[in-house]
Amino acid sequence: MFQSKTYIERRQVLKKSLKSGLVLLLGHEEAPMNYKDNPYHFRQDSTFLYYFGISNASLAGVIDVDNDKDIIFGDENSIDDIVFMGSLPTIKERAERCGVHDTRPYPELDHYIKNAINKKQQIHFIPLYRGESKIKLMELTGILPKDAGEKASIDLINAIIKQREYKTDEEIAQIEQAVNVTVDMHVAAMNFAKPGMKEAEVVAEVHRIALAANGNISFPIIATINGQILHNHYHGNTIKEGDLFLLDAGYENEMCYAGDLSSTFPVSKTFSNKQKDIYNITLEAHYASINALGVGVPFRNAHMAAARVVAEGMKSLGLLKGNVDDIVETGAYAMFFQCGTGHMMGLDIHDMENYGEVYVGYGGKPKSTLFGYKSLRLAKPLLPEHVFTIEPGIYFIPELMDLWEGEGRFKEFINYKKLQAYRDFGGIRNEENLMITPDGAKILGKKKPMTVEELEAIRKRTI
Ligand code: GLY
Ligand code: MN
Repeated sequence: MFQSKTYIERRQVLKKSLKSGLVLLLGHEEAPMNYKDNPYHFRQDSTFLYYFGISNASLAGVIDVDNDKDIIFGDENSIDDIVFMGSLPTIKERAERCGVHDTRPYPELDHYIKNAINKKQQIHFIPLYRGESKIKLMELTGILPKDAGEKASIDLINAIIKQREYKTDEEIAQIEQAVNVTVDMHVAAMNFAKPGMKEAEVVAEVHRIALAANGNISFPIIATINGQILHNHYHGNTIKEGDLFLLDAGYENEMCYAGDLSSTFPVSKTFSNKQKDIYNITLEAHYASINALGVGVPFRNAHMAAARVVAEGMKSLGLLKGNVDDIVETGAYAMFFQCGTGHMMGLDIHDMENYGEVYVGYGGKPKSTLFGYKSLRLAKPLLPEHVFTIEPGIYFIPELMDLWEGEGRFKEFINYKKLQAYRDFGGIRNEENLMITPDGAKILGKKKPMTVEELEAIRKRTI
């Protein structure tokens, strides 16, 4: 945990920003895998962590703006808990660490909230994404789970985003530590993967680094020779000479701050010429999007810069034809680049995505519904201390090729005949984590090997 003053200040800022009402923040329950006493690795809700820092199950926090009170509701461990889990700090001791001096048994939350409702206090809550939190909300307020999203407080969402999107120095130190371990995970994979191994063996090595650093992974590992499947969690393929290996993996540290990097490297000692051509286009797109960043510059510009490079690159290979401006504007480039260039990052790898992409990434303005652009999670102007990813890629998806060709979609731009030679190519993505600074943007953490020369040098030593 940070020192208590961090959490005290965060709650004060939130109160000042909201002006009235009561903020109800529900911590997570243990999530059982197959029976109650066999839960998944516990992960606290990030909003609860941000304002209270306590990573224990079955707590709720109230920030009562009208009455200037911060309260943590939770039940002390029973002797049965202590027998199985050991002696743990009391709720009161944990609450003191985040500067909360008012703790109450969990059942009193019900009375507190009902009393506030009777007094016509506004109950602010964020959109909930876990079933048990929605049920708790229903029990406390009568709001049905199906309405928990639309009845969430927009004022609270905007107030929290205004705080959490600016990372403080102590948060940036945490994020850089998470990114550094993430780089180690990627370098380990580059030095470990060999023809004949299963993808799962590489996954195990990557996960080992995260566990050995006393944290865990920040999202399920993507480690695949089918990099064209954007969120591929199947790890049963045997990797072989000539394949491209795509790793998208991140570390979540003890404070729950995340890293999120992607790498693509040849399974052989070197890239083939065909692979090198596409790889270098993705690198060019990567640096074009970084060069487009700046204080007050919409992240959409970074995406457009990447889309333009992909369009130009594909045109130079004869896979696209026609005017590049039109290819970018119409969305025809999305045959190759179907996702967005990046997202905010912090306590969550897609930071604050649970509040709604439109608020976090678009400042409340509507998103495009066009294929490709609709997957852009971040488009708004960025400011110093905003932390985010840059991750343009190129993906050859046979089903998409067949669908669009069958529909005759973008046939004025896409050379479908030539594209057939890339059906089995796979996909390439690199990803780095950055922060806006007063002079532009800075890559966080240590450098990840990314050029063709750097990757081939590692691969030549490895196999
Ligand atoms: N690295 C996984 C994602 O950004 O969705
Ligand atoms: Mn990412």
